[in-house]
Amino acid sequence: MSANEIDFDIPVDRTEVPTLKFDGDTMQSLFGRADLWPSWVADMDFRAAPAVIEALQRRVDHGVFGYEPTRGELAAAIAAWYADRHGWHFRADRILYTPRTLNSLAVLIDLFSGEGDGVIVQPPVFYDFKLLIRAAGRRLVKNPLVLGDGGYEMDFDQLEQVVADQRNSLLILCNPHNPIGRAWHERDLSILLEICRDNGVFVIADEIHGDLCYGRRYTPLASVAADAAQHCATCLSPVKSFNLAGVAGSMIVLEDDDRFARCRHWYDRFEIGKNFVFSTAAMLAAYRDSADWLDRVNDYLRQNVALVRDKLVRDIPGVRLVEPDGTFLLWFDFRELGLDADQLASFLVRDAGIASNPGHWFGREGVGFARINIACPRVRLVAALEQLAKAVRAL
Ligand SMILES: Cc1ncc(COP(=O)(O)O)c(C=O)c1O
Repeated sequence: MSANEIDFDIPVDRTEVPTLKFDGDTMQSLFGRADLWPSWVADMDFRAAPAVIEALQRRVDHGVFGYEPTRGELAAAIAAWYADRHGWHFRADRILYTPRTLNSLAVLIDLFSGEGDGVIVQPPVFYDFKLLIRAAGRRLVKNPLVLGDGGYEMDFDQLEQVVADQRNSLLILCNPHNPIGRAWHERDLSILLEICRDNGVFVIADEIHGDLCYGRRYTPLASVAADAAQHCATCLSPVKSFNLAGVAGSMIVLEDDDRFARCRHWYDRFEIGKNFVFSTAAMLAAYRDSADWLDRVNDYLRQNVALVRDKLVRDIPGVRLVEPDGTFLLWFDFRELGLDADQLASFLVRDAGIASNPGHWFGREGVGFARINIACPRVRLVAALEQLAKAVRAL
C-alpha cells in the first residue's frame, strides 16, 4: 500500500483481533456495560503506516526469529528524527531501550530517588504516574496545573514551595500533557527546569506524545538550554504516534555521564535492554520511512478537533473543549452541567453511551472533566458526538 492509499476514514474492525479498547468483558467490569462507544484506551483505530506494516511482514516472512545484534542504524534513525523534526540534537549512543514507557519511568524513579522521597507530578495528569510512584515506595507530591482563560498553566510559585522540601527529589513532566493536550511552551519548560535544577530536583520528561502536535509545536525539554540535558532524562517512544502499542518499543535518552552510567549498569544487571526483532523492525520503518504518514495523522486529528469544537459550540451547550496543541486525547469540560464526579461518570456511560476516562481518574483536579479519544474514523466520532448532544438535551 502506498502513502496515497491511506484513508483514515475507512473503519477497521478491531474486534477481529483481541483489542483492549473494544473488549466487552473489560468494559463491563470498568463501566458496568459493554455496549458503549469505546474511547477510553489511548491508542488509535487506524492501521499503522504502510512502511511499518511492510517491514513487519518481511520480518515474519523470513520465518527465523533468533537473536539479532544491536542495530546502530535504529539509534541513528531516532537521533536523526529528533534533530530534523524537533531541533533536538543528542548522541545516538545515549539511547537506552525498554519495552514500554512505563518501564522507563519505573527504572528512572527507582534509580534517581530514594525510598520515601517525594516525586512531583502536575495534575490533572496521566494516572499511571501515581501508581508507579506509590509502587516504588515514593510519595506523590502535587504541583497542580491552573486553568485560566488561555488554558492550563503551570503554577511556578507553588512549585518553588514544593521543591524547597529536600525530600522531594524528582519531578515527572508530561510534554505534551496527557490529558489536557498542551505542548508546553519553551518559556515554561525553561522556568520549570531552572527551578528544579536550582533545588536539586531531577526531571523525568515523558514525551511519548511529542510527535502528535498540530497546534503549537512540541519542544523537547532537553533542548531548551545548553545544559538542559544534564538535568533531565527523556522518555520517548513511537507507540502513540505510530500506533504501535501492541508491538512495544520505548527509549530513555540520558545525556548526563554519571546518570547514564548508573542507568546502563541497571540495564546490565537486569538484562532488560535487549532488542526484539518485531519492535526493532517497526521502529526503524517508522522513524526512517514514515514521516509523511505521521503528517497525515496529525492533519486528520486537527480536522477531528475542528469537528468536535464546531459540534460543541453549535449543538452541545454546557460542554466545552479545552483547546489542545496535540495528542488524540481531548479534555472535555462538563462543569457547567453541574454534575458531581459520580453523576458525570454515570451520565457518560448510561445517557451518552461513551466509555471515556472520567476526569477524577486524573486526580481530584480533574473532577467535572472527561478525556475522550478522537483517533477514530470521522463517521464514528460524528455518531458519538450526536449521542452526547442527545444526552445533554435530555438532562
Ligand atoms: C504520558 C504517557 N506515558 C506513558 C504511557 C504508556 O506507555 P507504554 O504503553 O509504552 O508504557 C501513556 C499511555 O497512554 C501515556 O499517555
